[in-house]
Amino acid sequence: MFRLIEERHSDIVSVRIENREFQVPAGISVAAAVLLCGYKKVRNTPVTDSPRLPYCMMGICFDCLMNIDEVPNQQACQVEVRENMRIEFQRGAAELVSLE
Ligand code: FES
Repeated sequence: MFRLIEERHSDIVSVRIENREFQVPAGISVAAAVLLCGYKKVRNTPVTDSPRLPYCMMGICFDCLMNIDEVPNQQACQVEVRENMRIEFQRGAAELVSLE
């Protein structure tokens, strides 16, 4: 469904999405990486359990909330992929965590 517009991404990073390893272009967002890897759902809403997928890709809709490197509620469209990043989808409401 999604593909890169141009093939000018020379740097590649390895990320783990839902415990599967993928090679994605460096510099793209986590949301873009997940879409590029073919996922059709990234979370379920806490109240109605409705499936969600990144929508606006610019930090407005919050439909891209994911657990990134064990930190929940990250706006994946605002986070750049990094080598060995661990990306997990959220199911329902996320626990609040302290970053300290
Ligand atoms: S896709 Fe809308 S806030 Fe990330």
